[in-house]
Amino acid sequence: MRTVLGIESSCDETAAALVTSDRTILAQRIASQDEAHRPYGGVVPEIAARAHSERIAPLIEATLADAGMTLDDVDAIAATAGPGLIGGVMVGLVTAKALAMATGKPLIAVNHLEGHALSPRLGDGALEYPYLLLLVSGGHCQILLVEGVGRFRRLATTIDDALGEAFDKSAKLLGLGYPGGPAMERLALEGDAKKVPLPRPLKGSEEPHFSFAGLKSAVMRAKQSGQYADADIAASFQQAAIDCLIDRTRRALASVGPLNALVVAGGVAANKAIRGALEALAAEHDLDFVAPPLGLCTDNAAMIAWAGVERFAMGQSDPLDVAARPRWPLDPDAETVRGAGVKA
Ligand code: KG4
Ligand code: ZN
Repeated sequence: MRTVLGIESSCDETAAALVTSDRTILAQRIASQDEAHRPYGGVVPEIAARAHSERIAPLIEATLADAGMTLDDVDAIAATAGPGLIGGVMVGLVTAKALAMATGKPLIAVNHLEGHALSPRLGDGALEYPYLLLLVSGGHCQILLVEGVGRFRRLATTIDDALGEAFDKSAKLLGLGYPGGPAMERLALEGDAKKVPLPRPLKGSEEPHFSFAGLKSAVMRAKQSGQYADADIAASFQQAAIDCLIDRTRRALASVGPLNALVVAGGVAANKAIRGALEALAAEHDLDFVAPPLGLCTDNAAMIAWAGVERFAMGQSDPLDVAARPRWPLDPDAETVRGAGVKA
């Protein structure tokens, strides 16, 4: 059995975790910076990088202490090396390099998106490749065929906003603070999804991709009209988003060969209405549906440690001069799509 220390710092969560090759999370800590960014309604990169640099070393110490371990008990050190806000990524990666250098243990540079993409396998030991993954977070909205570690085929992406971004921006328009996704989900529970007519961008389209910018603009017009209750706008927004997700995922399912499961990951995968709709879609296709436990959906270091476990098991590690990458697509062969990839 191997134990990997994982470090995550690519956005606004400073996180460390110790995960074993038999899928046990021995300890994990997450320091959220929500309070620091809330006044700005979004993540301020410079504030994030400074907060990571203050918190990361004590956080790793505390995580080791929680597990009653020292660095001697760790077999490898994995850290997010991108994509993300580069200042934060560098704090985590350089910390991992220093620990690897001091201990002589291998360094594993993990793609944050691969962390999300493989996280369902940490929660569910029965999940085998290949699976169809809907990766929905604050910066990404992609459908990927996951064929193995480092083996991804991107089938669809967003041509403008990511889904989490659409949730966050719509929440801001309704005056619900940051981060908006969980607040929108709560408010939607009190509303009627049929009350506000909203568009379903690209639904039924020949091309495989997503678009959410028009939906967000429609939320703005609905709010400004003064005709609708906020809860009805939230419920109608969430339903429109779900209709788009299901339509696009159904199209993707029709374009691939046999699969072992339909899987959802990323921060937006914490949304129960979205999980429910995808579960029904999977059942319709006679597929298992796998979603990580809620705590593994939003950014965390256990998923980074787990990606490290999988890479380490394949004999992979990285040199101490490995680069931090603000952009790092999972499928390097995927064509660039209008607007997509602007954000990490
Ligand atoms: O994966 P994540 O923690 O960070 C990124 O890598 O982007 O995702 C954060 C995103 C935010 O946009 C947040 O609003 C959204 O996930 N989110 C949700 C929910 N919980 C988090 N969106 C909808 N419903 C939720 N319950
Ligand atoms: Zn993420």
